[in-house]
Amino acid sequence: MSKNYRITLLPGDGIGPEITTVAVEMLKAVGAKSGINFVFKEALIGGAAIEATGNPLPPETLAACKDSDAVMLAAIGGYQWDNLPRAQRPETGLLGLRSGLELFANLRPASIVPQLVDASSLKREVIEGVDIMVVRELTGGIYFGQPRGVFSTETGEQRGVNTMAYTGSEIDRIARVAFETAQKRTKKLCSVDKANVLEVSQFWRDRVIEIAKEYSDVELTHMYVDNAAMQLVRSPKQFDTIVTSNLFGDILSDIAAMLTGSIGMLPSASLGASGLGVFEPVHGSAPDIAGQDKANPLAQVLSAAMMLKYGLNEPEAAQQLEKAVITVLDGNYRTGDIMSPGMNPVGCKQMGELLVQALAKI
Ligand code: IPM
Ligand code: MG
Repeated sequence: MSKNYRITLLPGDGIGPEITTVAVEMLKAVGAKSGINFVFKEALIGGAAIEATGNPLPPETLAACKDSDAVMLAAIGGYQWDNLPRAQRPETGLLGLRSGLELFANLRPASIVPQLVDASSLKREVIEGVDIMVVRELTGGIYFGQPRGVFSTETGEQRGVNTMAYTGSEIDRIARVAFETAQKRTKKLCSVDKANVLEVSQFWRDRVIEIAKEYSDVELTHMYVDNAAMQLVRSPKQFDTIVTSNLFGDILSDIAAMLTGSIGMLPSASLGASGLGVFEPVHGSAPDIAGQDKANPLAQVLSAAMMLKYGLNEPEAAQQLEKAVITVLDGNYRTGDIMSPGMNPVGCKQMGELLVQALAKI
């Protein structure tokens, strides 16, 4: 019996379309092997949507996403849109997608692929064996808190304002996702905050401690965010699952990503209460290399694997995509971002062809 899934594709900007093409080919190929039929529908987001409609998240895009089984996003943004008013910037479209689909939990795994240890800027002994999952709160905190804006004060001076705010229920639900994630891993959870300075962070810590009572098998620790940033580069193996707020998670997930050598390797899953998820690489749109066949499509392919695993409950197909990635790396093929001496340089397209060939042999 063949299964049907409706996937909304949001290729976005920069290298987004090239890497989406590779991931779609891989999904078609794994689908053909596994009796899964994907119906793909493309929609506009980010700069591409601004050019076509003036709006970085057209209502039709949000509607198409809601009407699908999963969403695969590539990347948004580019220099030419950086100076537009905030409401019209590509990033606003992405944030609107997250809040519009209530994707409050962002899972960002950073694990070292043994083949790429030498691509990291850190020493082999520091990073070998690193396997971290950052659970980032995605629809609250300072990204969405009110008031926000630039206002005139009574003295006539301008004042820029953003607000870091969390309700108890927002903290509880992300904490539960994090505890459940940790339960499936090594049962170690580190909650990262700035409770020594911020009331909102003390509140975060208190609520996480409350929720911990429901998960007595998980060992909970707490760390201040500045220390966590330092510890991640000093001794990353001490971490398993990290849970943190939107802004801290944005920063720490980039650090965690770079431990692995290239941000071009890392996928992410954004999940909500409805079961509909958005799956996207952690990296950005890399406008400097867009359209030059230089992009690394592996994070996008691994995002497709996360979509199969977390979004569609097809863990075997997910594993096949992951295996294909490993096979190609074992064959010593590398895009520029993960290149090291003695490896075979390939472009995005060729990487895609090699992946499809590898998948056929699995
Ligand atoms: C990310 C990105 C986004 C964020 C930007 C593009 C709005 O950095 O997904 O980490 O800050 O969340
Ligand atoms: Mg970021």
